[in-house]
Amino acid sequence: MPISINKYMIALCASLLFFACSSPTTPETEPMKIVDHHTYAKPEIAVITHLNWDANIDFETNTINALATLSITKAKGAKEIILDINGLSIKSVKDEHGENLTFEIGEEKPFHGSPLIVHLKNNIQKISINYSTSTDAEALQWLSPKQTADEKFPFLFTQSQAILARSWVPIQDSPGIRFTYNAHVKVPEGMLALMSATNPTEVSKNGAYDFTMGKPIPAYLLALTVGDIRYQRLSERTGVYAEPSVIKAAAYEFADMEQMVETAEKLYGPYQWGVYDLIVLPPSFPFGGMENPMLTFATPTILAGDRSLVSLVAHELAHSWSGNLVTNATWDDFWLNEGFTVYFEQRIMEAVYGRDYSEMLALLSLQGLKEEVETILAGDKPEDTKLKLNLEGRNPDDGMTSIAYDKGYYFLRLLEEKVGRDKFDAFLKDYFTSNAFRSMTTDEFIAQLNTKLFEKNGIPVDESLYNEWIFGQGLPANCPQPTSDRFANVEKVVEGWVNGMPIEELFSPEDLMTKKWSSHEWLHFLRSLPENLHAEQMAKLDAVFQFTYSRNSEILAAWMVHVIKHQYKPGYQNLENFLINTGRRKFLSPLYAEMAKTETGLEMAKSIYTKARPNYHFVASSTIDKMLGWED
Ligand code: BES
Ligand code: ZN
Repeated sequence: MPISINKYMIALCASLLFFACSSPTTPETEPMKIVDHHTYAKPEIAVITHLNWDANIDFETNTINALATLSITKAKGAKEIILDINGLSIKSVKDEHGENLTFEIGEEKPFHGSPLIVHLKNNIQKISINYSTSTDAEALQWLSPKQTADEKFPFLFTQSQAILARSWVPIQDSPGIRFTYNAHVKVPEGMLALMSATNPTEVSKNGAYDFTMGKPIPAYLLALTVGDIRYQRLSERTGVYAEPSVIKAAAYEFADMEQMVETAEKLYGPYQWGVYDLIVLPPSFPFGGMENPMLTFATPTILAGDRSLVSLVAHELAHSWSGNLVTNATWDDFWLNEGFTVYFEQRIMEAVYGRDYSEMLALLSLQGLKEEVETILAGDKPEDTKLKLNLEGRNPDDGMTSIAYDKGYYFLRLLEEKVGRDKFDAFLKDYFTSNAFRSMTTDEFIAQLNTKLFEKNGIPVDESLYNEWIFGQGLPANCPQPTSDRFANVEKVVEGWVNGMPIEELFSPEDLMTKKWSSHEWLHFLRSLPENLHAEQMAKLDAVFQFTYSRNSEILAAWMVHVIKHQYKPGYQNLENFLINTGRRKFLSPLYAEMAKTETGLEMAKSIYTKARPNYHFVASSTIDKMLGWED
């Protein structure tokens, strides 16, 4: 039985004195008031506990028409409940007896959308909202058949994190508010619908599907996808979904999924969500992965054919603990989701593929982190290099930098190195168990760290640790430093080549064609190349390694940065193809940014973007719009 009581309900219960209401895992009597700047909800007055969603997915109009019935708990005398909406057209709001309730829609603010204020009558337990989404709902991407792998059916997927759930469901869209849900979804015949819930494995006859998420989740984990989708089981509790022509490659690529789940469980306790499935979405999916509970959403760009990019699966799986069980209370605490997840991902990768493999990943992350720290410190918001952010009045997407991920990771790695792995693992296991299905603020995390890790083990801790790492800017001097012989070897090759040795002679013939190097070594190679390569050198590298035609998206994207930088014309056509066919923001941003550095580059960027933009999800196009000064 999940703990379906959230802290606001505890607060409500306390104030109402209706009954002794305490959760076995929440010892506090005085719940801390947490301010989430990115929601209009006032959960201390009225909070949602369950969503029953009855929806019709209309591919003719690219809209969803739905009835959202929300179970609510309210403080005595509460006169209203406030939900978040963004672009929804609200047709009616009724109580559980079918009687109309009056409502108001407040002023719309950029990113935040509007508050939907529903006036409550006494003893009301449920409200039902009849609504439809707008055709440009920010969470939704509607793809035409042409934009899918098999080109037969249209496709739909959602991306709710951070505050986009409100563009497809009227909801209290705060990571600190949890609810369970059920859904009944109707789609065109022949199509499969999947959610972040119990899922079908076969196409239904009439296009109707039922879903249950019995564990309380925050709104950013609401997810839906609809398309021409097949399922292949990988183990008792793991499996992959993909379009028919992709399913075989997906099953091959993710064959280690069960082993990853077992490894994760050994580290930090049982997997709490029943099944762990993954869907490979069409290439316009704007992220590498999204940890929707029970069903990770993933980009097809990790299908490298050699399982070399599966650390992304370890990452999204790790979120089943860090994020989905213990959730950042607000987007200012985002590092608690991502930093912990990168740490956990690294531990899974180390256990499954060995330390020399995971240390390469750690080094790549450190390089990325150092660059990002420098860039942010040079800009007008150096405070964004702190782990604890202040995103008030800003788009929470602004906080999605490698600070949360990699500075977060290195802070946790430092703690591990300080106290020893055994003690740190015991702390983390307890952290995930005792805080399960709750949200966590940075301050509460520090309090738990002090009592349950340091005091418990009699280890002294200096406040400067937190002041530097969590509340301070930049990368502290005591940042752990990974070492990798494999990367040292890569550096030797680059050095030899720069000093005039022919590239072929730096490899043995059998190593020459990526035989021994992993994609991480190639990535390191490409990132370590000098800034001032000339045309012959580019041509030589391409002739020997065929980077322009790499099937590995990471390698291709890293190479394309050089293609732009060194105006390597033979790479241009594939650069354009890549940008048109891939919507993963992590690849798009550096490439458009590199093009935007010169006048001719900017022209090229704009010409490509005209063709590519219709393929991008809002999350990606809004970033590139800003970068190129694009007016829609
Ligand atoms: N939860 C994130 C994606 C996200 C973060 C979406 C914030 C919207 C707002 C996901 O777990 C993630 O971190 N994805 C990474 C993958 C990764 C291996 C670091 C990505 O998409 O690149
Ligand atoms: Zn993540």
